[in-house]
Order: sequence, then structure tokens, then C-alpha cells
Amino acid sequence: ALTSELGKQIKLKEVEGTLLQPATVDNWSQIQSFEAKPDDLLICTYPKAGTTWIQEIVDMIEQNGDVEKCQRAIIQHRHPFIEWARPPQPSARNAKDCMVSYYHFQRMNHMLPDPGTWEEYFETFINGKVVWGSWFDHVKGWWEMKDRYQILFLFYEDIKRDPKHEIRKVMQFMGKNLDETVLDKIVQETSFEKMKENPMTNRSTVSKSIMDHSISSFMRKGELWGLENHFTVAQNERFDEIYRKKMEGTSINFCMEL
Ligand code: A3P
Repeated sequence: ALTSELGKQIKLKEVEGTLLQPATVDNWSQIQSFEAKPDDLLICTYPKAGTTWIQEIVDMIEQNGDVEKCQRAIIQHRHPFIEWARPPQPSARNAKDCMVSYYHFQRMNHMLPDPGTWEEYFETFINGKVVWGSWFDHVKGWWEMKDRYQILFLFYEDIKRDPKHEIRKVMQFMGKNLDETVLDKIVQETSFEKMKENPMTNRSTVSKSIMDHSISSFMRKGELWGLENHFTVAQNERFDEIYRKKMEGTSINFCMEL
């Protein structure tokens, strides 16, 4: 059991060494027996890799760019999490930005363990002792899987760099054909600024006892590495060393600059 900032006991459970929320573990056999239909679309993201962003992009495409239809419900209801046994999501975002974002998310989310100090969290994160498991396992796993199944592997950094290009890829993957003007509209509506103000995507409707936006906003910065200065020089070097070892043998390459 880990203690949150509110002093609450957060009891996580494990499946094959991966920490998960109790409700997930309690329903594991049901979740594991899930069988996708041929036209089901699963979004498979590591926490803080831009889950909400790609969810909104997919829904905008599905609804042919109809903003009103995308306002029908909060994003958590439009695309429920399969592992929360309410009836997932690969997208990758680089490890360092995920770590920073996850750290702040654990500070503000009272359903997750208190991250402790940044120095403590550094160890927790690189050892994969966070809810939903190790960043390294997630990214390597999906990267190896991507050519064997019908998987569209997306990078947060690429969507940031050239949203229209990446949104078009998602559209094609979904078998849709939308006009250029609709694509432009989706680019606009799924910008960080718009989604930060949108109550259907910014988690403002979640009760303060669960997510305290005064500690840290859910839509925090939405930026790429380099603009934030959490890592000391020593931590950065250590991280790069660990990264090289853990990612050895994979061809994946993260471009972290715009
Ligand atoms: P930061 O904490 O770095 O700001 P998830 O949805 O997987 O929990 O990921 C949340 C992260 O994605 C947050 O990162 C959030 O700001 C960022 N994000 C959400 N919508 C975005 C958008 N439209 N453009 C860029 N980043 C976005």
C-alpha cells in the first residue's frame, strides 16, 4: 500500500509483476478474454503519452469533423478504458516526457500513489513500478508487435510536429476519406489550446477529490522535451545510459525536437 497526498491508502495489485488498480486485477480474467471484432479499434497508449489527444482525434474523424457530436459526452465515456472493466488504446511518447507528465499526474490524481519527490519518482519510473507498468516494456512490446498485426504506431512528437500529416494517417487507417477542410478543422479542434478549454476533454468534470487541478492541471503543458527542466545533468546522463541498455536491440527512434 502506498500513501497519497491526502494520506489515503492506495492499494495497488499486480498481474505478472505489473502494478494495476485493484478493479482491473479483480476483473483480469474477463479483461483477458476480450475478443476484438474485425472492425474494433483499440487505442493502446502508455499513461501520459497523449491518450486523450488521440482519443479526441479518432472521435473527430469518426464523426466527420462534427464538433457538436464530439460534445455528446466526456472523453472517458466516448472511449472507455477496457482495463477498467468498463468496457483500450499504441501511441508512444518519449520516456522522459512521459515520466515528467506522469509525475505531475500522480501528484494531482488521488486515485494514484503519491509520487514522492522527483528523485524518488526517478527510481520508481525507471524500475517500472508505476501503475500500468514499465514504459520500456510497453513501447518495446508494441513496437515488436506492429508489423504482425494491423497496428498503426504513432508518435506524440510527430503529431506535435505535423498534426495534419499524422491525423491523415489515422483517417486512412480508419478507412475514412475526409475533405481537406474537415482535416484542417480537426487539426484546430484537437490543438492543445482548444482541448485545454474543452470540458469534454480537460477532465474538469472529474471531482476534486479524485483529480485536483489546483495541484497540477490535467492538460498541463503538452510540450516536447527540452522545454522543461526537471532532469539534472547527472539524472539525464543516467537516464540515457539506462535507456540504451533497456532499449538495446530495438530499432525505435524518438525524435524529441520540433
Ligand atoms: P503534459 O502533462 O506533458 O502536459 P494522457 O491523456 O495519456 O493522460 O496524456 C496527457 C498528456 O498529453 C499531458 O501532457 C497533456 O497536456 C497532453 N495532451 C493532451 N492533449 C494534448 C494536445 N491536444 N496537444 C498536445 N498535448 C496534449
